[in-house]
Amino acid sequence: MDIRAPKGTMDILPPDSERWRLLQEIGTSLFQLYGYREIILPIMEYTEVFARGIGESTDIVQKEMFTFEDKGGRSLTLRPEATAGVARAFVQHRLETEGLPVKLYYQGPMFRHERPQAGRYRQFRQLGVELIGSPHPSADAEVIILNQRFFASLDLDVELVINSVGDEQCRPDYVRALKEYLESQVKELCEDCRRRIDKNPLRVLDCKKEGCGRVVQGAPSLQDFLCRECKEHLHEVEELLGDSGLDFKREERLVRGLDYYTRTVFEFLEPSLGAQNALAAGGRYDHLIEEFGGKPTPAVGFSIGLERVMLANPQLQSGLEEGVYILAIGDEARRKAFETASGLRASGIRADFDHLLRSPKAQMREADRVGLPFCMIIGEEELSGGYYSLRDMRSGIQDKVEKTDILDELKRRLAEGRQEGSSRSE
Ligand code: HAM
Repeated sequence: MDIRAPKGTMDILPPDSERWRLLQEIGTSLFQLYGYREIILPIMEYTEVFARGIGESTDIVQKEMFTFEDKGGRSLTLRPEATAGVARAFVQHRLETEGLPVKLYYQGPMFRHERPQAGRYRQFRQLGVELIGSPHPSADAEVIILNQRFFASLDLDVELVINSVGDEQCRPDYVRALKEYLESQVKELCEDCRRRIDKNPLRVLDCKKEGCGRVVQGAPSLQDFLCRECKEHLHEVEELLGDSGLDFKREERLVRGLDYYTRTVFEFLEPSLGAQNALAAGGRYDHLIEEFGGKPTPAVGFSIGLERVMLANPQLQSGLEEGVYILAIGDEARRKAFETASGLRASGIRADFDHLLRSPKAQMREADRVGLPFCMIIGEEELSGGYYSLRDMRSGIQDKVEKTDILDELKRRLAEGRQEGSSRSE
């Protein structure tokens, strides 16, 4: 029998899972620093949430959704992204009544039926924020700066590219001009792009095929069509980013695979990752909330793809493991080890001991493998003398600690270790 995790999914095992937890903690505590609060959403929605939110003609909705019927015949979809769900929840719970802007963050798995390759999976995790309720460039700048800070705190060198995709005033003129141009070049385009001319011509700008790339080189530029308001908006976002010392590049052909964007769009790239080099992406979406029946409410946000961040090899300095391994010699000591572990855990100290009736030597090897900073030894002498032998696993120094003092002593030594650890990582 060959049972494996489904294609395009992966198991994250310890110790990797610990790096993942740390990565998510770094992100979420940074988001909290900027005033974002967590929203926890279902991982499935009624299919129309994505069809309407992301756009009927996008690749995601056309080809990549995991969609199924519930027993009542209603179509459900595993979320391919979270922004549509956030907007749906915002409208459903009338979150605007709490006052604007509403600043939310989320984390969790997303699902897209794509052809798996390095950096592209069918189940992947995102960490994202949405700032809902402000049309102003300071909101765009805040989320971009926050996104950049996330990468900086991981010591990742990323490239920020930014563009404006215009709004309902100016984009239709551009789309018309682009269509005309693409129709004149239809022979050079791939199958997919030929179909896109009618339904979603902007997506052609993003096609990775060589022939399409050549056509795109000669396409009219959206920049030439932006209305005054969109130009000013972009200019101001760029000024704010510049004032904050952010490096970025204006990328005139940057478009996104989701239809809800207006004005600002951006991506954070890690060029060494090859084809799947966007570690995070986002932008402004001023009409999505209305799409779900809410009042006109402009918004902006981003999502970070955590698998790709991991591939980029972030600096994740985990705190030292804390706790104690209890080594027991003899049956009576084993019972004592069990009881001692319970006591320590009740006081909030991680404690481990042997469950496999191993020899003292093998237990010492196990203590090493588990990697806790202290080992507490209970043998006949310790039992009769009313003390424990406490070994510092790093220095190898072992001393006696009175039974009654052990809890305080362990707490003190663990706190000391914590302090040393934090001054070492500064
Ligand atoms: P997105 O560009 O579709 O935007 O995805 C954001 C990030 O998720 C990508 O840059 C990438 O790092 C990661 N990602 C996407 N697809 C995959 C995949 N198949 N495998 C691994 N990683 C992937 C959004 O999802 C929008 N909701 C962003 C946003 C938030 N816009 C406004 N607010």
